[in-house]
Amino acid sequence: MSESVSVHPVPPRLQNGSEVPYIGPNIEAYKKAHAESIGPNADKWWGKMARETLHWDIPFHTVKSGGFEHGDVSWFPDGYVNASYNCVDRWAHRTPDKTAIIYEGDEPGQHLEISYSQLLREVSRVANVLKSWGVQPGDTVSIYLPMTWQSVAAFLACARIGAVHAVVFAGFSSESLRDRVNDCKSRVVITSDEGRRGGKTVNIKKIVDAALQDCPGVEHVLVLQRTGGEVSWTAGRDKWWHEETAKVSNFCPHALLPAEHPLFILYTSGSTGKPKGIVHTTGGYLLNAALTLKYVFDVHENDRFGCMADMGWITGHTYIVYGPLANGIATTVFESTPVYPTPARFWDVIDTHKLTHFYTAPTAVRLLRRHGEHWVEKADLSTLRVIGSVGEPINPEAWHWLNDHVGRKQAAIVDTFFQTETGTIVVAPFPGAIECKPGAATVPFLGMEAALLDPVTGKELEGNDVEGVLAFKGSWPSIARTVWQDHNRWLDAYLKPYPGYYFTGDGAHRDQDGYIWIKGRVDDVINVSGHRLSTSEIESALILHDGVAEAAVIGANDEITGQSVHAFVTLKPDFEHNGEAGLVKELAVQVRATIGPFATPKKIYLVPDLPKTRSGKIMRRIMRKVVAGEADQLGDLSTLADPSIVEVIKDKVAAAH
Ligand code: WTA
Repeated sequence: MSESVSVHPVPPRLQNGSEVPYIGPNIEAYKKAHAESIGPNADKWWGKMARETLHWDIPFHTVKSGGFEHGDVSWFPDGYVNASYNCVDRWAHRTPDKTAIIYEGDEPGQHLEISYSQLLREVSRVANVLKSWGVQPGDTVSIYLPMTWQSVAAFLACARIGAVHAVVFAGFSSESLRDRVNDCKSRVVITSDEGRRGGKTVNIKKIVDAALQDCPGVEHVLVLQRTGGEVSWTAGRDKWWHEETAKVSNFCPHALLPAEHPLFILYTSGSTGKPKGIVHTTGGYLLNAALTLKYVFDVHENDRFGCMADMGWITGHTYIVYGPLANGIATTVFESTPVYPTPARFWDVIDTHKLTHFYTAPTAVRLLRRHGEHWVEKADLSTLRVIGSVGEPINPEAWHWLNDHVGRKQAAIVDTFFQTETGTIVVAPFPGAIECKPGAATVPFLGMEAALLDPVTGKELEGNDVEGVLAFKGSWPSIARTVWQDHNRWLDAYLKPYPGYYFTGDGAHRDQDGYIWIKGRVDDVINVSGHRLSTSEIESALILHDGVAEAAVIGANDEITGQSVHAFVTLKPDFEHNGEAGLVKELAVQVRATIGPFATPKKIYLVPDLPKTRSGKIMRRIMRKVVAGEADQLGDLSTLADPSIVEVIKDKVAAAH
């Protein structure tokens, strides 16, 4: 089974590099640091971290109050702290010329570096524009922007004056945008004329215009000129960013804000109902963003961080914007795709900008792996110290590919587990301290107590070699506080299932060494004849086959075995085979040989692509429904990157029955 796979020592660049890791050289160092940060020591430890990490306009006296029992968590409640000041002014004063943002435009060669003093001016100007429109602390501002450096300024302009940003990923449809703008009742929307991605033009303003036809509350739209393309214009409502910011002062004093002032709303889809507006507050979120970036990535002063996620998702919020800037280092805003103009793009970006950190998702790794090693070989990647993976369990194949071809066995790989709700990384290895096992998210972050619970009794499973649902005991600063204007929904989904705990919705295994392995969403676990199977484990087995690019496995009801395994597989483009039937047999043998006969898929469907969200998450729900014969109940498909794939899947499944 995957738990017995190779163990990788702390790699050379962390053992012998010029920077001594904060936590190292071995797991004992982590265990000591962790023990000092939890239980009776927790409040003292968090208080010390908060004072050392952030600038407080008014110091706090109380570290924490409330808890998961009553859903009234608050951190540093009597302190005042401003996220924009902490991310920009501190460094603009100390090191004004230091690079804050590395902007890598869609076309290669189209890049810029923005210093902390430049960023302070842009943030201030946008903040002054918002103020001139009457935006008050606590008002929401919706942001629908492509991946340009000014997007960072838009986030921080809101934070500066206490406006609550509600960023909507600029790949969402106008309907999704409309619903979100209306749900959080924004009077102001910040957007751009167009965007550029993968050599194509995206009609951003057009989507906004369509959405705003049904958003009567919106009074002002600030439009960034990204391409200069023709756009339609609503006089009185629409204003150009460059014109408005030219009219106001270059400096805007930051607002005095309580630590529990909401910093942002970010919508996320649950398994049921409409998307939830997850609310994060200022002090706690910012503290954990700063600390997790520092310790999980072992970031030092002159590092150049490259998170390839989109700013519209939690990974982008925390590891493009708040985490790097709260540490005063350089962050990358990457506008393009991993394969534009060629599958060498990521590697060229790392090489050109001498990035020390590279953070991406397993889906991108699998895509690039499918294109072959030759794309990565030419780049000089010797500056990379830590490589991160996030978003779904990383299959050992993808882990090894990163380690062999990107890190070249010199850099650490950190598999980081977190959620929109947790705000920041909650389970991950510490690169200078921990020997990694490919596929294990490894250990809880400092100050956090992970618990595995029996899903039925809710009893905490003690010791090692146990499997249950992943929850967290006690609170930590960056846990979300509520669902926007629906506190009961927050309580019902996350705090009531297991009283006293935050319930992640993921299953996990703690192995004999105490390492945590995330098994995927609880609803992705398949039980075949009493054997518990993880979909990701079967997927990892399938992907071991030479021809397989990606695999998604789901469980379907089965009269005999309870559930059975169904696998959807995409092939590498240049892979040649002698007919589908033979290949399907080979794949079944692959799973039997890797895991055991009980895991053999009942059906394997070869498909041209998998249904994925625009952020690359595989939507297993769709395949489950189709296989279950419930294709008429597919629910909300608005987050699908390519809705046409649903029909292909329906046909394939129908043909196989
Ligand atoms: C999954 C993304 C395994 C998990 C940051 C979680 C992971 C959901 C990992 C949250 C990981 C995220 N290993 N699974 N390293 N990281 N997940 O809110 O199922 O978009 O519950 O946040 O992604 O997705 P979200």
